[in-house]
Amino acid sequence: MSPQVPIVAVASGKGGVGKSSVAVAIGRELARSGRRAGLVDADIAGPDIPRMLGIRRDVPARSVTLASWTRDGRGGSGLEAVEVDGLKVASAGFLMAGGQGLALGSDLSDLMLGRLLNQTNWGDVEVLVVDLPPGISFTQQGVLSGAGRVGTILVVTPAEVSHLDTGRALSTLREVRTPVLGGVENMAYFECPCCGEKTDLHTPAPHDRTIWATGVDRLARLPFRPDAAITGADLAPVLQAVAAHLGA
Ligand SMILES: Nc1ncnc2c1ncn2[C@@H]1O[C@H](COP(=O)(O)OP(=O)(O)O)[C@@H](O)[C@H]1O
Ligand SMILES: [Mg+2]
Repeated sequence: MSPQVPIVAVASGKGGVGKSSVAVAIGRELARSGRRAGLVDADIAGPDIPRMLGIRRDVPARSVTLASWTRDGRGGSGLEAVEVDGLKVASAGFLMAGGQGLALGSDLSDLMLGRLLNQTNWGDVEVLVVDLPPGISFTQQGVLSGAGRVGTILVVTPAEVSHLDTGRALSTLREVRTPVLGGVENMAYFECPCCGEKTDLHTPAPHDRTIWATGVDRLARLPFRPDAAITGADLAPVLQAVAAHLGA
């Protein structure tokens, strides 16, 4: 991969808030709009992207060599990106069968992120969307910034704990001077299909304890939709921020 390929990292303090759903929607929308886009599923404990895109592997991996995936020292990589509707995808999940676990410490998770970014055969992608595991570590940031210009999209629910933990990730991002493009407030409310009444799904955090109060732009506020994924239309302002990051 060219070291210049810009990165859009999707991050949060907590799991289960919709990072992977947002990352898939951004990746799909970039590909639909004609960008040569890649999607990196870097959540070792929960590599959900293959399932979300309908890709599966049934044969358990016997071993994973993290030291290097380079074949014969000839520069070829052992890991091919899989293309789905024009979007190239690499996932830690490709190395495991459906229910198989991969118990790695956080350092090895960061190493895996580096391998997925740098040793996947990405071809000529011009942007990589990275679905990060919950939390941000300095080494993760090092790996990301070594790969290209990074902009981060944060995903939270309205709950105070979500903002509290994402605020911790945010302070790491600011310490390493990684730009935050904005945030998505997900699963904020439920809209009654009969009468349209909106009901909050969380006790909202007091404003002064939210990431919005620290200057993060709330780019989207999305409902809980039991039967529908997050769409490109939901993320229009996010996609605008991503386009600005990519210099378009
Ligand atoms: N706006 C939404 N409405 C309904 N379900 C959602 C919404 N966003 C995400 N989900 C669901 O919530 C679960 C967690 O989302 P996911 O994207 O996997 O979160 P994360 O990657 O942060 O762990 C998934 O089952 C996903 O389909
Ligand atoms: Mg996820």
